[in-house]
Amino acid sequence: MPAERAPVITVDGPSGSGKGTISRLLARELGWHWLDSGALYRLLALAARRHGVALDDAGTLADLARRLDVRFADDGGGEPRVLLEGEDVTRELRTEQTGAAASRVAALPAVREALLDRQRAFRRPPGLVADGRDMGTVVFPDAELKIFLTASAEERARRRHKQLKEQGFEASMDALFRDILARDERDARRAVSPLRPAADAVVIDASDLSIDEVMARVRALVRERGLHGD
Ligand code: DC
Repeated sequence: MPAERAPVITVDGPSGSGKGTISRLLARELGWHWLDSGALYRLLALAARRHGVALDDAGTLADLARRLDVRFADDGGGEPRVLLEGEDVTRELRTEQTGAAASRVAALPAVREALLDRQRAFRRPPGLVADGRDMGTVVFPDAELKIFLTASAEERARRRHKQLKEQGFEASMDALFRDILARDERDARRAVSPLRPAADAVVIDASDLSIDEVMARVRALVRERGLHGD
């Protein structure tokens, strides 16, 4: 099968909706590749800091995005380790500070354009599960199945708080809630690739659903579309 014909399932939505967990589980279950597109924006923000590039210097950031030396080392277990210029940045990648910087670089059209080919290169047989904000609308508009996973801002702040605590980070619930609202607003209002469901996306509100419950719905959709081997 030519790489550009490999099937794609897109999982878009705001941060904290659980799309990272769901898309990773789904990729593992199907034995497909996984693209964490948010990690690319986060990596670019980290690289910018390391190379002293301002977060609004679109031209230099786009250049940096094209040359970004990144490796995803999947050890078959949980979240893959991420190497930037040979250095393990997995932990640094997930901090609030990196997320906020990523949101700023992601608002620049030149940066989004520079990362397009890189993201599309993840599409390889037997298939790809792509996690992000604009996977179904811009990067893979011809995807076989598009899911838009969302949850209330309160629930996302609660989940983020729990996750950070487990990783050993301290965070105030109020500050997280405000950050989430501010980032939602920025991601939804930006001129390029604003966060919105594709017209043909299936929207799942996960506010009151467990991971297992969301997975059960997703599995049913995957079967319905004939994307499963059995
Ligand atoms: O999903 P995340 O929190 O790792 O994403 C980090 C930032 O990158 C977030 O502010 C939104 C942005 N992003 C984007 O604009 N488009 C994507 N496909 C993925 C992430």
